[in-house]
Amino acid sequence: MFASRQAAPTLFRSTSRHCHGPVLLKACAASFSTASTGNRHGIIPRAACVNLHQQAPSSTTNPHANTSLRMHHGESSLKESYDHILVETRFPSDPSAKGGGVGLITLHRPKALNALCDALFDDLIHAVMAFDHDEDIGCIVITGSTKAFAAGADISEMSKQEFANVYKKNMFSQWADITKTSKPIIAAVNGFALGGGCELAMMCDILLAGSKAQFGQPEINLGVIPGAGGTQRLIRAVGKSKAMEMVLTGNRISAQEAMDAGLVSKVIDSEILVDEAVKMGFTIAEKSGMAVRMAKEAVNVAEEVSLSEGLRFERRMFHALFATKDQKEGMSAFLEKRKPEFTNE
Ligand code: CAA
Repeated sequence: MFASRQAAPTLFRSTSRHCHGPVLLKACAASFSTASTGNRHGIIPRAACVNLHQQAPSSTTNPHANTSLRMHHGESSLKESYDHILVETRFPSDPSAKGGGVGLITLHRPKALNALCDALFDDLIHAVMAFDHDEDIGCIVITGSTKAFAAGADISEMSKQEFANVYKKNMFSQWADITKTSKPIIAAVNGFALGGGCELAMMCDILLAGSKAQFGQPEINLGVIPGAGGTQRLIRAVGKSKAMEMVLTGNRISAQEAMDAGLVSKVIDSEILVDEAVKMGFTIAEKSGMAVRMAKEAVNVAEEVSLSEGLRFERRMFHALFATKDQKEGMSAFLEKRKPEFTNE
């Protein structure tokens, strides 16, 4: 359904506008064509796509081209390349689309089934924060490979640790940075989402499962328990009995079971999962960024506070949105029977 830009995309534009450095159009073209044939997600290894935005006629395909260099000058811009993830920015292909783009992050440590070593998580947090600060991005998608979203925290890294060390460094506390973004994150889970992989997915705002996805908290088999939210977020998603069963037996559940239990919101054919997640990201990105952020905040507050406090918080957020231009635009557009043009103000 989706393809790289060279393969005449119909539903999205994929841009390498975050890549810069010496001119190397050939390398970029090669990487695009590899993406269109060998990589069905059109993922462009960032190290290989250098300066394409200065060479390609991006202004004809990308209305955001003028802003392509902007985020490199800020502290919170994407890095030139990452060791353990791939990053890509996609925009809707319809040139009249007013919405923002989607930041797609692919965990990429294939030999270890995307085991979440410290370096991978550092990369992930960096890219998530960069997308969160990028004005052109309205939603973030995190995915892995077809075999593994992530097979958990890195066991070889953990196996050498002692109590004093893990306690003093408050091991895994930094993972929660993922939950501090103001923009929604969609987890597109194919294959194994085990231990920390399942916990990472649960830190996201929407979970979509590929038909062959498997979820589990197998830490009990290693003589430990989940340490990044598995005992806390899972019970909120699937209830006590199912959460206990998963945490105490270490047994995995299928995508359909995860759907039936309320852990994921959709099961999608694994071949098209990522594209569908990006499409959902576009739908979110075309809304008012103000309303989207406040909606995310309000829904997440529900997990932390009493109902009356949550209702109060929701109402205050609702009131606050009347101070935005987007509320005026959204309601005027409805009454004038036209599409709203939100400016995220
Ligand atoms: N850490 C480090 N390496 C891992 C890993 C992990 N969590 N999971 C898989 N790997 C590595 C394997 O060691 C193997 O490496 P080598 O080829 O060098 O031997 C490679 O990935 C492929 O794995 P398998 O050969 O085991 O692949 P498989 O298809 O036979 O099995 C699997 C797949 C069922 C996911 C199995 O790899 C497995 O059970 N992995 C561990 C899952 C796990 O226990 N996760 C929880 C970790 S603890 C945690 O996450 C704590 C927390 O709360 C944050």
